[in-house]
Amino acid sequence: MSRLLTVEGLTTEFKTERGIVRAVNNISYTVDSGEIVGVVGESGCGKSVSQMSIMGLIPSPPGKVVAGTAIFGNTDLLKLKKESKEMCEIRGNRISMIFQEPMTSLNPALTVNKQMSEMLLEHKSISKKEARERVIDMLRQVGIPDPESRADDYPHQMSGGMRQRVMVGMAMICDPALIIADEATTALDATIQAQLLEMMNNLVREHHTAMVMVTHNLGIVARYADRINVMYAGSIIESGTVKEIWANPLHPYTESLIHCVPQLGQKVEAIPGMPPSLINRPPTCPFLPRCKYRQKCCFEDPVQELTLVEGTHSTMCALRSGGAKNEQ
Ligand SMILES: Nc1ncnc2c1ncn2[C@@H]1O[C@H](COP(=O)(O)OP(=O)(O)OP(=O)(O)O)[C@@H](O)[C@H]1O
Ligand SMILES: [Mg+2]
Repeated sequence: MSRLLTVEGLTTEFKTERGIVRAVNNISYTVDSGEIVGVVGESGCGKSVSQMSIMGLIPSPPGKVVAGTAIFGNTDLLKLKKESKEMCEIRGNRISMIFQEPMTSLNPALTVNKQMSEMLLEHKSISKKEARERVIDMLRQVGIPDPESRADDYPHQMSGGMRQRVMVGMAMICDPALIIADEATTALDATIQAQLLEMMNNLVREHHTAMVMVTHNLGIVARYADRINVMYAGSIIESGTVKEIWANPLHPYTESLIHCVPQLGQKVEAIPGMPPSLINRPPTCPFLPRCKYRQKCCFEDPVQELTLVEGTHSTMCALRSGGAKNEQ
């Protein structure tokens, strides 16, 4: 497997009336070709902002990527101007994004064929006729019935589930190296969601496309991803393979998240307390106020970096990585 994306020290802030919100705080991660990396964490922990940062999609002002690099091929994505030719070429052709709400990404005034063909014609040297054939083939692959005629539908003529399938097709049509799926299925009902996830998984595996799968549902990530990055308050607080994390969650937050995955017939535990404010964050562990394992040293020591514990498994919890002595 070859390295596709290397993100180091990514930090993104927003200027607000209440102060500077540090939405993404010094995160580092990699994505290899063909692998699925899951990103999980509660609402507001920086999942979307981190992905939008590397795609040059942060609204500025008020947002700004204040530090970091995101190396894709030989290019640092964070150094590219948002609307530069190079960024536009990467966005859509090499890396594509799928968002939660398809109507915000689909153009209501264009037929499905028209908008998918346009992407192909913009990035590949093929004829309109060839483009239409590829669009129909892609629609078939994402499970649109009768794609020859549905290709001429407008988005509003399709059901929500079908529109989301079209979004997946649009993301795949140029055969990108990486797809970033940000809560791509969250808005759909459970059955359609399961079908769509299964289809996306098969498709990216077949095409050897890497995927960053953003969701607040650890159950989904555990099923489809190869590796997981757990985010909390703008930081990646744990990282490892699905097996490493599921068998032995090292960060108390990850442990709580696993307890939150609904099991048939069992009561779901909510994590008590709230995530911290992202303005004027204290220098200590961000999970400290909610952590049931906290010890004296946690209040005194500054938060540590993500630390490798075993294999590819790393955590930011000092108690679980040998970073602090156990006082019990
Ligand atoms: N335009 C903005 N102005 C100010 N703050 C913002 C802006 N966009 C995002 N933020 C803040 O950045 C933080 C991270 O937001 P982000 O959208 O990445 O969360 P998320 O993990 O994707 O949550 P969700 O699961 O709800 O989608 C939040 O605290 C949010 O309020
Ligand atoms: Mg989000």
